[in-house]
Amino acid sequence: MNYLRKKSVSSFYESKETKGLAKHLTVIDITGFGIAAIIGAGIFSTIGKASADGGPAITLLFIFTAIACSFSAFCYAEFASMVPVSGSAYTYAYIAFGEIIAWIIGWDLIMEYAIGNIVVAISWSEYFVSLWNSLSDNILGWGYFPKWLSTDYYTGFKNGVDKIAPTLAGLPIMFNLPAALITLGITWLTYKGIKESRTSSNIFVIIKLAVIFMVIVLGSYYVKPENWTPFTPEGMSGVLKGISAIFFAYIGFDAISTTAEECKNPQKDLPKGIIFSLIICTVLYVLITLVITGMVNYKELRVADPLAYVFEKIHAPAWISMVISISAVVAMASVLLVFQLGQPRIWLAMSRDGLLPKSFGKIHPKYQTPSFSTILTGLVVGLPSMLFIDANLITDLTSIGTLFAFVLVSGGVAVLQVTQPNLERKFKVPFVPAKYFLPLILILILVVMALFNNGDIVDVIKQIFLDEKQNIIIGRVVFIILWLVLIGLSFKFNFSLIPLLGVLTSGFMMLELSAVTWYGFFIWLIIGMIVYFGYSVKNSTLNVENSNA
Ligand code: ALA
Repeated sequence: MNYLRKKSVSSFYESKETKGLAKHLTVIDITGFGIAAIIGAGIFSTIGKASADGGPAITLLFIFTAIACSFSAFCYAEFASMVPVSGSAYTYAYIAFGEIIAWIIGWDLIMEYAIGNIVVAISWSEYFVSLWNSLSDNILGWGYFPKWLSTDYYTGFKNGVDKIAPTLAGLPIMFNLPAALITLGITWLTYKGIKESRTSSNIFVIIKLAVIFMVIVLGSYYVKPENWTPFTPEGMSGVLKGISAIFFAYIGFDAISTTAEECKNPQKDLPKGIIFSLIICTVLYVLITLVITGMVNYKELRVADPLAYVFEKIHAPAWISMVISISAVVAMASVLLVFQLGQPRIWLAMSRDGLLPKSFGKIHPKYQTPSFSTILTGLVVGLPSMLFIDANLITDLTSIGTLFAFVLVSGGVAVLQVTQPNLERKFKVPFVPAKYFLPLILILILVVMALFNNGDIVDVIKQIFLDEKQNIIIGRVVFIILWLVLIGLSFKFNFSLIPLLGVLTSGFMMLELSAVTWYGFFIWLIIGMIVYFGYSVKNSTLNVENSNA
């Protein structure tokens, strides 16, 4: 059995299945979708814990992460200009590496889209409850939202909500009603055929941007520069704790590549949309972080709704935090919408290729949406967020899953540039020879770090490889080996620099994640392998075509 059988780029152009969707998206719409997908729970919620762990220097992490994402964004752009069909990283991997890797990526993307949406649904619920309560305090007086109705079982026990919850047959009743309702609502909309239509997406984006500007402008009046010193109060290790949360805030620019079949001119506009949305969000994120860490002491930011909280904390008029909460609720709903549309499309692409059962590709006769996949996505997101998941645990899983996709997409571009240089690419990542620059960059980083450490290179090496308890950090060792291997391969294959930097930076972020996250990731991939060998490998259209031939 050939597990590395590949699809050709031309097979997508010949396929009738990819020609059915209306093509009406322009570069502005695509950039809008990018912003709609990117700005959400990350900046409105998970950034709180990251800032509390790392202090104001978290801004630098935002810049580093943006640079890292931009390498992968370039690679997504090149792929999207080469194969403008939905399916995103899954499809790209099918072309570059072959079926089994495509399967792994398709399976892995469930972590980005469905599991990512669980985090967003829970954060949505937190902002909703905070909005409800502040409306009660300031205007309506209808009482606080019951805690037992806004917490899942796991978190409820952790926070002692079980002691105040009503009981049924001796068991406390606790579930996250708002998270369930928003998932239900979004699933209903996507089932009924609401597309990521220009109008609704653009309205969402305008509201989000207006409020983010408001936070930046109003907040900057309340900044006390002394809050910025020390800039790295918890050291580099504190800053790096935020990697997953900060990366989570950027996830989404890749999701717009799933709209390729609905773009007027995907080969030109998708690359621009991906890169523009990333630049705009980076600028906003850096400014927001500077403002909130300047408004209050960073330690106070360990809350689920940091943007609304900072204004409450400085006793600004109540309407400001209310407006922020309303917009957070809107912003996160739009992220939910884009991802809730993206997941069924990937399943649809996998079902077209025979890797998933036909029902995953079933299109509703009236609404023309992938009906089964849409409902299944709703269940996969809704049930855990309502019943038993702690958002902090799965933010890391979402990040590791997405980073893995970035590593493979970046690696795929590097490989395809060498193996299939003549494929038509309307956008090409500029070629810079990696064989000279990869070693140079490594040396430069070491030199700069040594300069910051009074020229003590031994200390630098210790800082890189040893943690506070003087244990070796295995992830860092693996990372340096990866770097050296890539240098070797670049001499052999003359790889391009930017895709390899995509592999390295995303790989670095993956390796900084906790061991528990890696275990979760491996368990997920093992389950995926069981499904692949149990079902997909036999039913793959490439296998069926071969047998017929
Ligand atoms: N970037 C998206 C968010 O922050 C996933 O909600």
